[in-house]
Amino acid sequence: MSSLRSMSIYLDNAATSFPKPETVYQAVMHAMREIGVSAGRGGHRRSLEASRLLFQTREVIASLFAIPDSSRVIFTHSATEALNLALHGVLVPGDHVVTTTMEHNSLLRPLYVLRQRGVELTIVPAGSDGRVDPADIQRALRPTTRMLAVGHVSNVCGAIQPVERLAAIAREAGVLFLLDAAQSAGSVPIDVVAMGIDLLAAPGHKGLLGPQGTGFLYVAGGIPLRPLLAGGTGTSSSSEEQPDLVPEGFEAGTHNLPGIAGLKAGVEFVLARTVDAIGTQERAHVENVVEFLRAVPRVSLYGPSHSAERGGVLSFTVAGLDSSDLAFMLDQNYDIAVRAGLHCAPQAHRTLGSYPSGTVRISPGWLTTHDEIAIFCTAVVECLS
Ligand code: ALA
Repeated sequence: MSSLRSMSIYLDNAATSFPKPETVYQAVMHAMREIGVSAGRGGHRRSLEASRLLFQTREVIASLFAIPDSSRVIFTHSATEALNLALHGVLVPGDHVVTTTMEHNSLLRPLYVLRQRGVELTIVPAGSDGRVDPADIQRALRPTTRMLAVGHVSNVCGAIQPVERLAAIAREAGVLFLLDAAQSAGSVPIDVVAMGIDLLAAPGHKGLLGPQGTGFLYVAGGIPLRPLLAGGTGTSSSSEEQPDLVPEGFEAGTHNLPGIAGLKAGVEFVLARTVDAIGTQERAHVENVVEFLRAVPRVSLYGPSHSAERGGVLSFTVAGLDSSDLAFMLDQNYDIAVRAGLHCAPQAHRTLGSYPSGTVRISPGWLTTHDEIAIFCTAVVECLS
């Protein structure tokens, strides 16, 4: 065992951010102990307090993403559910969708399901650096194209897509633009109006620093959406029909109130510290690792060569050493958590040239320090020797 093992180092924030700000833990506990009940399911004061908490959480999310009307924020249990709602809720057989090879299975698998039901799908190859060329997207559009669905930041290599240009292409063609912000929400600035985003899907448990089991979909006004689930909404109880009013009609079932309370605290933390400051720090850590690993023999780095085109995620491989073995050594010998393999994004690995063995991925978080990054770099070199 190495002498470096004096602290636990968490570099897997792209999977789930950890730890959370202290206020997040307190908010979850407060919601469970002091509120305790369901929102919108009674007229008593606890239920009203729960409803207020939902409203306040929609408001802080709206503030973070410059969403003009917070009632267009629909709570989900994950970004995956938000993406499913956006895709199944909008697309019908005969519609054409354009996406890219850099997408996570959370976006691609619902599209494969929809393809079996008559939705046409074009998957545009990104470049070997993970960035998609807007001209390729433009060429993929057809008269029947209903939606362009793209991930903002690659969960594999951190490539940032040129969202404004893609959104402008979609807008010009009368196509809806869905942004998967799973790896950007909370660390890359997003303004849904200025950037031309019609639908925005995000998890609560990554850059927004909330608990697992939280997420949301923003849908711009005027976009018809079908609910994914039918059930109790606390409204229109006598109707056999699922209400199609946002947000309640799209949130059937009891809300994850403790999770949403934690999400509110997480978003408030991000608002106070600012997305710019958090993102700049995470990218600086990644750049330090890039600079270091560039000089290490047998190491290959993936993703954009310009730091401005990369978010807080980095993938690398080592010739002659399996990525899973390296991740195992880092965990067992140094207590450093990274993620190895295909990261639920096989097409992205094909694009980058790292399929089928995958890569080792690091993703620093808001609390990662320079010392931890230095220890990680030393540990990698020790593992190779
Ligand atoms: N999508 C998450 C990741 O990339 C879980 O690890």
